[in-house]
Amino acid sequence: MKSIAVLTSGGDAPGMNAAIRAVTRTALTRGWDVYGVQHGFAGLMSGDLKKMGPRDVGGIIQQGGTVLGSARAPEFKSEEGRKKALRHLNQLGIEGLVVIGGNGSQTGGEALFKMGFPVVGVASTIDNDLVGSEITIGVDTALNIALEAIDRLKVTASSHNRAFLVEVMGRDCGYLALMSGIAGGAEAILIPEMEKTPAEVAEILKSAYAKGKAHAIIVVAEGCTNNADELIKYFKEREAELGFEIRAIQLGHVQRGGTPGAFDRLLATRLGAAAVKSLDRGEYGVIVGLNKGQITTTPYTEVTGKHKSLDLGLMDLAKELDG
Ligand code: F6P
Repeated sequence: MKSIAVLTSGGDAPGMNAAIRAVTRTALTRGWDVYGVQHGFAGLMSGDLKKMGPRDVGGIIQQGGTVLGSARAPEFKSEEGRKKALRHLNQLGIEGLVVIGGNGSQTGGEALFKMGFPVVGVASTIDNDLVGSEITIGVDTALNIALEAIDRLKVTASSHNRAFLVEVMGRDCGYLALMSGIAGGAEAILIPEMEKTPAEVAEILKSAYAKGKAHAIIVVAEGCTNNADELIKYFKEREAELGFEIRAIQLGHVQRGGTPGAFDRLLATRLGAAAVKSLDRGEYGVIVGLNKGQITTTPYTEVTGKHKSLDLGLMDLAKELDG
């Protein structure tokens, strides 16, 4: 292999830049050419690729977001779109591709691999729903951002005797909500994998008030049937019986925009380098991830179209800890 391309795709995740840097530098060390694709698969289809040297990835390890840009590219789902991408790769003599992203992005990578192109994926999404890596790039930073928000909300909630509904991202997966809820000492955690009715949440709030708590924090995953928007209407009408005044906040994209912490920088660096090594030894059609402390490869066939399951035993732990 003499020349590869790298792209970031789907929702950006803190640590993507560290992964781009690791891919680029590890490949350059091998004497390969490296092309950065702008805006994910969209840039691959439009031929928006630029050759990168070691300085192009200097000073980015500490930056959130992605210097290559990202996009969701529905056109890539069509064979025509993928053929366009292949044409650009072939014209530039590129022989391998590293796809840094989550579920949708790796599905795109697999489609290209099935057309005969060597692709290796790097597990990166704040949702942590990707099979093939126990933890994905961006999760730890996003979790810490959610946690900082919860800690701050608790302060103001206590001053005013209020309850806060804090909606966190995660698409259909409750990982961010569950972990930030436990680490933030939330009174209730609502996740799509184990829904609670508004009436059940109301009981939790009433009980917290009766116990003399000065605040209550309810962490809600955005993928719940009753998200924060729905719940706030229900609770606003019942404030008098709940005891607490109630407020809702959606953390949204704030969770994605952070400066990557040490964990994500290290994970991204290890996975980025591992992706290049995988291409080098001719192991394609896999994603690189972290499992039981080791860097591993998992075939696309075991990754795409699936969702990693959540350890629901942690919901019991959260309940046990409610004082
Ligand atoms: O997959 C990452 C993620 O941030 C999800 O948690 C969220 O549902 C989605 O992306 C938001 O997508 P967009 O940035 O396109 O609004």
